[in-house]
Amino acid sequence: MHNRIQIFDTTLRDGEQVPGCGLTKTKKLEIAKSLEALGVDVIEAGFPISSPGDFESVRLLSKEIKNATVCGLSRAVKKDIECAAEALKGAARPRIHTGLGTSDQHVLTKLKMTHAQVIEKAKECVSFAKNFVDDVEFYAEDAGRTDNAFLAQVVEAAIAAGATVVNIPDTTGFCMPEVYGAKIKYLIDNVKNIDQAIISAHCHNDLGLATANSIAAIRNGARQIECTINGIGERAGNTSLEEVVMIMKKHEWLGFETGINTKHLYPISRMVSETMCMPVQPNKAIVGANAFSHSSGIHQDGVIKNKDNYEIIDPYEVGVNKSSIILTARSGRAALNFRLAEVGIVLSKDELEEAYKEFLVLADEINIVEDDDLKHLARKFNNVAVK
Ligand code: KIV
Ligand code: ZN
Repeated sequence: MHNRIQIFDTTLRDGEQVPGCGLTKTKKLEIAKSLEALGVDVIEAGFPISSPGDFESVRLLSKEIKNATVCGLSRAVKKDIECAAEALKGAARPRIHTGLGTSDQHVLTKLKMTHAQVIEKAKECVSFAKNFVDDVEFYAEDAGRTDNAFLAQVVEAAIAAGATVVNIPDTTGFCMPEVYGAKIKYLIDNVKNIDQAIISAHCHNDLGLATANSIAAIRNGARQIECTINGIGERAGNTSLEEVVMIMKKHEWLGFETGINTKHLYPISRMVSETMCMPVQPNKAIVGANAFSHSSGIHQDGVIKNKDNYEIIDPYEVGVNKSSIILTARSGRAALNFRLAEVGIVLSKDELEEAYKEFLVLADEINIVEDDDLKHLARKFNNVAVK
């Protein structure tokens, strides 16, 4: 029996906060439909009080999305919560996501409140949101830097007030995986009513640890991961959806499963990248242009003999047609022969040797040797069968 992990996608809220990534409601709906088809459990559609456009987007998604919970963000402020509730009215499964900062950094210098006031506010915002929807998620902003004993008190109060999910954000991406995992375990061990709510991991990537922290969280009892397509989000981004999903799939021994149809991962990655004008770095895990490309001679030779030598994921599993052998000056004879065969050119051993010498000169000059270059290179050999 595997533990089911809820995938809470916040591409359209935390992801859309990236400068230059703002979306119209029509574009948001296109992405939301793809997220629904991907199989996410929750779509955080936006922050309705932030602008009339965002309000309309949340309203539209609430009407159109039927197979995922639609969530709207709010601060722990009554008018925010009312606005989120209004925008979510048409949703089949509405969720209000409300909360406030809990670290001393936030409590003392941003909110300028006492600890007792923070606990009161947590209770107040959750119970107010409960007037509108059954499903209320409470966030303890900057939980990553919050003292565990105080965090436990806030979380207990939020659950007592009716929170169905408690979000423990590492807002600044500061935690190490051991520390974040231990924080989740501390809450499980010390919050009396913790079994009445799901713990959610929401990690930022400032130290490149968002994925590792999210996995540490579920290994310690969290049952929801908040993430974005391509890991987009504030500053260095959020946990990357495709990474956590594929980690759970590839490491079945961990005992987790999700509702994600992984064949949609690559297509949705491209779509989000194009729609939000956010290029994906070529070496990005799972969905980068080079994620299934082999370019050094040693790796190419190994992959040609048996893909499993260098591929831990079948590209087809994530919606990529096939892996590729990229011909560069680092490629060997095996790769050249393989790619020649792919374009229908068969050379004898001696011919291959001669072609290889010319290939290296060309590759040094133009860097990547493409199909047409290969055909040109092999023209002088009479016995070739060019497709
Ligand atoms: O990073 C964060 O703390 C957030 C909250 C608003 C949930 O995005
Ligand atoms: Zn965030």
